[in-house]
Amino acid sequence: MPKIAITGKGGVGKTTLTALLSYIYTQRGQDVIAIDADPAGNLGLAFGLPANLDARLQPIAEMEDLIYERTGAQKGTIGGVFRLNPKVDDIPESFSVRHRGVRLLRLGTVRGGGAGCICPESALLKALVTHMLLRRNQTLILDMEAGVEHLGRGTAGAVDAFIIVVEPGLRSLGTAEQIHALAAEIGIKQFYLVANKSRGPQDDEFVRQHAAGLPFLGSLPFSSAAVTADQAGVAVFDEASELVAAAARIADHLAA
Ligand SMILES: Nc1ncnc2c1ncn2[C@@H]1O[C@H](COP(=O)(O)OP(=O)(O)OP(=O)(O)O)[C@@H](O)[C@H]1O
Ligand SMILES: [Mg+2]
Repeated sequence: MPKIAITGKGGVGKTTLTALLSYIYTQRGQDVIAIDADPAGNLGLAFGLPANLDARLQPIAEMEDLIYERTGAQKGTIGGVFRLNPKVDDIPESFSVRHRGVRLLRLGTVRGGGAGCICPESALLKALVTHMLLRRNQTLILDMEAGVEHLGRGTAGAVDAFIIVVEPGLRSLGTAEQIHALAAEIGIKQFYLVANKSRGPQDDEFVRQHAAGLPFLGSLPFSSAAVTADQAGVAVFDEASELVAAAARIADHLAA
């Protein structure tokens, strides 16, 4: 089952693509977990998650009791002694919310984080992501910010597709190159570029021309239905059928 990480500059459509692919893989009979790994994440909204369920989706990084119980140290302590291999295998089931057949899990953010941070909550998140990346019979889609947080050298090989989303413009393509360099450094190999908000073949071609060696996986058209869905707080896959069709083609290309 595919393990997919989705990154890109702010606002390019990472969360939208995460929701679309989660929907498609679920329709295809796969057991999907979608992980909100963006500190400012709002993955639930893209799934039309009702407010009462969204409120239950607390970020793991903020669960002080859980962090203490699993690592033996208080959240926020730096440089102390704590378990680097905490028990995490029950966390995806216990702390996720199921909606429309997809499990949603929110990681939250590690303050002062980044690759260099050595603190209990980052150890817990890293162990959790590693565990989920290695789980064979579950499809995992990681909605990340523009970087490689929560991924490391040890698990880079488990990522089947590292998708960088861009808009057809130089700014997000520039960010894509930076993300590519960061991810290549930790050993990620399977890179793909997806163009979002494409106005047609000329925009796809623009992205191809500026792809800087990244394989072009496909594009999602600009969709006013996506905007409407975001305004109405309903799932993007219920509102924007043209995006569902385009994301299905992307999933087909990934499998090919
Ligand atoms: N194909 C599209 N056509 C039109 N609007 C879109 C499309 N894809 C995404 N959007 C809109 O663009 C905005 C940003 O999308 P989204 O939240 O998916 O991006 P993101 O990369 O996850 O952003 P962030 O960096 O803030 O997490 C949303 O309002 C969304 O509805
Ligand atoms: Mg997002």
